[in-house]
Amino acid sequence: MTHDLLQQFVNRLLKNERHRGKLARRQELDCYRLYDRDLPAVPLVIDRYADRLYVAQYLRTEESERPDPQWEDYLAAISSTLSVPVEHIHLKQRRTKGDPTQQYQKLADEKNLLIVREGGLRFYVNLTDYLDTGLFLDHRLTREKFRQLSRGARVLNLFCYTGAFSVYAADGGAAQVVSVDLSNTYLNWAQRNLALNRLFDPDKHEFCRADALQYLPTAPAEAFDLVILDPPTFSNSKAMAGHFDIQRDHPTLINQTLRALRPGGTLYFSTNCRKFRLDKSALQAGFVKDITAQTTPFDFQGRLQRWCFVIKKPLPEGETLP
Ligand SMILES: C[S@@+](CC[C@H](N)C(=O)[O-])C[C@H]1O[C@@H](n2cnc3c(N)ncnc32)[C@H](O)[C@@H]1O
Repeated sequence: MTHDLLQQFVNRLLKNERHRGKLARRQELDCYRLYDRDLPAVPLVIDRYADRLYVAQYLRTEESERPDPQWEDYLAAISSTLSVPVEHIHLKQRRTKGDPTQQYQKLADEKNLLIVREGGLRFYVNLTDYLDTGLFLDHRLTREKFRQLSRGARVLNLFCYTGAFSVYAADGGAAQVVSVDLSNTYLNWAQRNLALNRLFDPDKHEFCRADALQYLPTAPAEAFDLVILDPPTFSNSKAMAGHFDIQRDHPTLINQTLRALRPGGTLYFSTNCRKFRLDKSALQAGFVKDITAQTTPFDFQGRLQRWCFVIKKPLPEGETLP
């Protein structure tokens, strides 16, 4: 790495940490994005989790996973600039066009869980054992919106991962929360996140290990008031009948979810599929709005690579949505 590039990288880290650190402290927020390939010549993504750093190096398809010779320079610069000891900096190599099924595979077994604060709540994150950490930082504002709509609601969290939306719904006063995921590991993690916030009430929380595509047709009609639907872009887990492709399958998935919603109920639909196009005409919805901009947090401005829509189930003839 040239001296000039190193200096530019250091200056950018300092500037981002100063600005975003201040905003985060104001919100008592421990986890936020610090750097996202701001300098193309330094293709890293750096997230802060309390006193630790999660650093993802994005490899192009043809690049091998051999340690990048520049990595030692990056590590030294990040450590000295942000005053974080190297043993608290966790590197992950990710592929720009990776095998999506790898995303949820276990990479290590160190089990050193860290507790981070967000929105007055606490979450377990794991910076070593998986490609992802257990908390998707970019959905912070969507979780807050979800909390505000949860009072007395019957909530469904589909593709729930570690249950962050279920924790927010419980904190918002949800009457019932059903969390559905294919993975027992993540369902257990979701339960631990609820317990960590003293929100785990077995009478209100149901954890369902299932293929969401097979769960939905069996869900009772009009059983929920509020749903979060955040599927992977692609999924072909062995536990599934066939594979799932969000662009092709989203109308069926959304319409099946609308069937489980009460008339006038609210569905938050999110996808990380960059080239995604919502097929509004295929949806049996009363209202559809793209809220990607409204759900983009300060540390993802101009860099967010996911969509979010609010979709409402039509009301019976003659009634109007509020
Ligand atoms: C993008 S993550 C969801 C993130 C979550 N909404 C959040 O904000 O924390 C996708 C999740 O879908 C789960 N998954 C993948 N295929 C599935 C399927 N067919 N049925 C249910 N869960 C599935 C994965 O285990 C993973 O936890």
